[in-house]
Amino acid sequence: MTSEPPSRNASKNIVWHHGEVDAGARRAAFGHAGATLWFTGLSGSGKSTVAVAVEKALTDRSVRAYRLDGDNVRHGLNGDLGFSAADREENVRRVGEVSRLLADAGVLCLSSFISPYRRDRERVRAMHADAGLVFLEVFVDTPIEVCEGRDPKGLYKKARAGEIKGFTGIDDPYEAPASPEIRLTTATMSVDESAAECLQVLAEAGVIDRG
Ligand code: ADX
Repeated sequence: MTSEPPSRNASKNIVWHHGEVDAGARRAAFGHAGATLWFTGLSGSGKSTVAVAVEKALTDRSVRAYRLDGDNVRHGLNGDLGFSAADREENVRRVGEVSRLLADAGVLCLSSFISPYRRDRERVRAMHADAGLVFLEVFVDTPIEVCEGRDPKGLYKKARAGEIKGFTGIDDPYEAPASPEIRLTTATMSVDESAAECLQVLAEAGVIDRG
């Protein structure tokens, strides 16, 4: 960010300190731009699995890539948040801000969060647009029956048994994106196909070179 983002917080008497390195200089130094690829979808949809494959493919091509993952970030930065609507909103706001910082730093940020509310995702999109950063929404569009059939963490079973309340897709809402840049149907696409689709769109967006 070369310019001051709008202040949304309670801090007073703070003054933006400009640097001497902008996005163009970082791009020239690193050979690629920064951007955020935002994976949204149900638990068990395959967000993290695809993000892991994309991170590996990018790193193999010497592109600086880094994953932010819901379960992982909730072990640290967002460990104080639960799964109420307000906490999910705050979760997405914070990781949206971190994504923006990483993208601004010239990193290809791979953010995987259920992020069930359209409004919250649109805020993250807007904060990237305000900073002139590329934001690509990836809808991991896997039917709930498939996610529940996979149930890699046994959480759908617990939610059905009433041991977890407010589980996304069972007794908590998920608002699918209206027009995502990328839609992955993991019920029929392989992980490699999904990752290749992400890389192709990143190349088309001019973030990374083709090849
Ligand atoms: S989000 O809704 O705030 O975006 P986030 O992606 O960080 O969620 O975390 C989702 C992960 O938390 C799920 O993959 C699952 O492992 C775990 N989890 C625990 N409780 C819930 C719940 N009530 N609803 C959804 N996921 C839950």
